[in-house]
Amino acid sequence: MIASQSLELHAFDDSAPLAGRLAEQLGIDCQTVEVHRFPDEESLVRVRSAGAPAAIVLRALDRPNPKLPEILFAADALRRRGVGRIVLVAPYLGYMRQDRVFREGEAVSQRVVARLLGDAFDAVVTVEAHLHRIHALAEIFDCPAHSLSAAPAIARWCREAGHEPLLVGPDAESAPWVRALAEATGLAWIVGEKTRLGDREVVIELPERLPIGGRGAVPELALLVDDIASSGATLAAAAKALRARGIERVEAVVVHALFAPGAEEILRTAGLARILSTDTLSHPSNEIGVAGSIAAHLVDELGLGSRT
Ligand code: R5P
Repeated sequence: MIASQSLELHAFDDSAPLAGRLAEQLGIDCQTVEVHRFPDEESLVRVRSAGAPAAIVLRALDRPNPKLPEILFAADALRRRGVGRIVLVAPYLGYMRQDRVFREGEAVSQRVVARLLGDAFDAVVTVEAHLHRIHALAEIFDCPAHSLSAAPAIARWCREAGHEPLLVGPDAESAPWVRALAEATGLAWIVGEKTRLGDREVVIELPERLPIGGRGAVPELALLVDDIASSGATLAAAAKALRARGIERVEAVVVHALFAPGAEEILRTAGLARILSTDTLSHPSNEIGVAGSIAAHLVDELGLGSRT
């Protein structure tokens, strides 16, 4: 068990809002990791550490190419200051999609990244890792690694919002956690079938029969639930399919608001009335906080600090 005064939190600028909320939950200060980018785009990283027994490094690994080496450098810098135990909190963990060789000659980037992080950190914590053919991070990491569910935080938000949408998972991959959300809220749910035709092109088919809404009609409100909004193609296709079935208002909630350029326009054009996200990635759509879930895991499972 590491007492709060023996625990440091170091965060990169791009994850500052969530880091501030996590620091508040744990009742500790948050130090910003300094990054200098040289003209040739190499990075120099510097931490302000007193060499505590344990430290958390927080950074979301979206658009990960410059970020990945920088968190490895931060871990090295903390070890050089004498920190004994270093935990990475990467609320979004990039490079998890490529979990096998799909076409001869490809790399399995998921394994490479897990190996690098496992060598540098003593534990890794993320939220809703995008896992397909492996079921838990423990299968690929040498250090303790855990993917937290965002379902409890989203379920809390649904209950507070007080409306009763039909929950819709756009594809089979979303089924386990749309089901978890339905169980926590008692809401009806369906899952579509997705065929991906390209990076920005998908087709979604909904089940033939939709659950009946109030007064025996189609539901008035559907809430699409997905882990990631990237190009926006998945949510846009699902929103169009739902509206074509006569559902008046379609909203969406995603865990990771990646939003590639142009995604928001695609979603608006598809008639999505509103999109909300958790704060794993800083974005104007953030409405649902995950700092409480992360703090609970750090304290209860990893024995780091205490909650305020
Ligand atoms: C797919 O397996 C994921 O759960 C998301 O549906 C997907 O990553 C969303 O990507 P896009 O917004 O580009 O369709």
